[in-house]
Amino acid sequence: MCDDHDGFTLWFTGLPCSGKSTVGDGVAAILKEKGFRVELLDGDVVRKELTRDLGFSKKDRDENIARVTFVAKLLSRNGVATLVSFISPYRELRDRARQGTTNFVEVYTKCPVEVCIRRDVKGMYQKAIKGEIKEFTGVSDPYEEPLNPEIVLETDKETVDESVAKVIKRLGELGLA
Ligand code: ADX
Repeated sequence: MCDDHDGFTLWFTGLPCSGKSTVGDGVAAILKEKGFRVELLDGDVVRKELTRDLGFSKKDRDENIARVTFVAKLLSRNGVATLVSFISPYRELRDRARQGTTNFVEVYTKCPVEVCIRRDVKGMYQKAIKGEIKEFTGVSDPYEEPLNPEIVLETDKETVDESVAKVIKRLGELGLA
């Protein structure tokens, strides 16, 4: 099969409910229309299938991200548009993903924690605030903001369509889509 697309790793990072998966789904649909082979690695799915043994301590989160980085490496070096959507709260592990994968593009879904708490799609923030879930990112666990991401999405100010368009435009500028 002939395939003229370079692979890349589009890495979404941000607080729970900041919009990583929502924007990722929109970007994936457009890339498929453009003829890319697309894979989406999403925290909630991967944690059921590949990293079920892991919890949310720093050690386990680091292991989670290390395994996902390995999968993203295999896919992105084989021409796949690889979308990765994890909180990935620690800078060091994101930097390792940058080093270890092909054409790494970091997307920070920036959103004030108060807005994420208001969205609370799965009711987990409320449980974390009550202390029913421990080590919850944004409430009782740290999130290290990216220092130099290729893309910043302000998901409290942009519509989903605007954020998706911003990602596609930047991929174009980077010569990737
Ligand atoms: S990461 O920190 O290791 O990158 P990941 O993105 O895989 O996290 O998983 C986050 C998802 O796990 C959240 O969307 C949420 O549904 C669930 N979750 C359960 N417990 C926690 C917790 N303590 N902190 C964050 N997310 C949690």
